[in-house]
Amino acid sequence: MDSIVVRGGGPLNGEIPIAGAKNACLTLMPATLLSDEPLTLTNAPRLSDIATMTLLLQSLGAEVSSLQKGQVLAMSSHDITNQHADYDIVRKMRASILVLGPLLARFGRAEVSLPGGCAIGARPVDLHLKGLEALGAELDLRDGYVHATAPGGLKGGTVDFPLVSVGATENVLMAATLAKGTTVINNAAREPEIVDLAQCLRRMGAEIEGEGTSTITVQGVDALHGATHPVVTDRIELGTYMLAPAFCGGEVECLGGRIDLVGAFCEKLDAAGISVEETPRGLKVSRKNGRIHAVDVTTEPFPGFPTDLQAQMMALLCTAEGTSRLEEKIFENRFMHAPELIRMGARIDVHGGHATVTGVERLKGAPVMATDLRASVSLILAGLAAEGETVVNRVYHLDRGYERVEEKLGACGASIERIRA
Ligand code: EPZ
Repeated sequence: MDSIVVRGGGPLNGEIPIAGAKNACLTLMPATLLSDEPLTLTNAPRLSDIATMTLLLQSLGAEVSSLQKGQVLAMSSHDITNQHADYDIVRKMRASILVLGPLLARFGRAEVSLPGGCAIGARPVDLHLKGLEALGAELDLRDGYVHATAPGGLKGGTVDFPLVSVGATENVLMAATLAKGTTVINNAAREPEIVDLAQCLRRMGAEIEGEGTSTITVQGVDALHGATHPVVTDRIELGTYMLAPAFCGGEVECLGGRIDLVGAFCEKLDAAGISVEETPRGLKVSRKNGRIHAVDVTTEPFPGFPTDLQAQMMALLCTAEGTSRLEEKIFENRFMHAPELIRMGARIDVHGGHATVTGVERLKGAPVMATDLRASVSLILAGLAAEGETVVNRVYHLDRGYERVEEKLGACGASIERIRA
């Protein structure tokens, strides 16, 4: 298993290109299953999760060609041979559940392994299943699989989500495009990845209104046609790299960054003493002056503070002036980076979904363990400003969601290298 070595050092200066969004691409790719015509995605990120989704779609009979060094995904689901999503692939990536809605909508049947939990929580899929049942799906859970059928096809219906779920909204939205009649999704997720999916589906001929709000309305159509769609910028990668100069000074321009993707996050950056300037090419970020100030953070569905940036923000607040309080309201176990940061000298008290961070002058480099995707990058950021050397192990977590992190940070002056195992 590779590890990444970071040596704390001076300021970062330069440009970081922000890739297409992993979490948009992972729902845009299954959308190919809705049509027998080609769907091409541009600005696709080059990540191991994308490779896993590619394997899953190919196992169903779809053609997926990765062109232009992986930035273009040319897909065709003209010859789908089966509707069985196997546990062996699904267990590697829970977003695999997103093939369920499209398979059901187009073929009237699907057999998808339950994804199982992951490090940050149980990650149930009950809302996905309830939403599809509201469209007439008949579901039978046995042997670890969802056996779904839609005799006579899906029918439009009203889906009332008791809590906001990005994945469940995506599964139902995709299924509703081919359901007979009108579907109304209430308490829908409002994330930019949902908006991006709706825009792609509309390009394919779907009739959708309200994406980005809590109520999405879909008029089902008989069939969807092919399209070409650019994957939206990755707001989590963007937020991650916006924090980098806040750790060790300097000024970084995040190319392709859009302020509308990181609204609530930017409010916290401003309160912490970080300046963000919109430029023609993206967002320029630097530390205003002196130390970072402590701020309180509560994670919420979009447009609130993203849970996927909580670990990175906690790492920054470890050396802020004052005490910060973080509340993780989306997942039940998303503070696993805290013990690793404590190994670096941070002062963090965790009680359930609450963490109190008392700022210290500087962290000290140490060998640390990546536990999940966002925790791993928070440890790399912490290492940028820590005294001495930090070795982040198990960076396969990192490669799931960050392209060439050592190259991007290294190009701005960070002392960082990958040690291949
Ligand atoms: C998506 O996961 C993202 N993944 C996550 O990013 C992100 O953290 C999350 O949304 C929240 O923004 C992808 O898009 C591939 P949810 P998802 O359904 O869809 C509970 C990353 O680091 N829930 O919005 O799985 C669930 O347990 C990843 O890139 C149910 O109870 O998240 C959680 O507590 C991590 N039943 C809450 O809802 C369900 O059926 C929000 O989950 C579904 C979810």
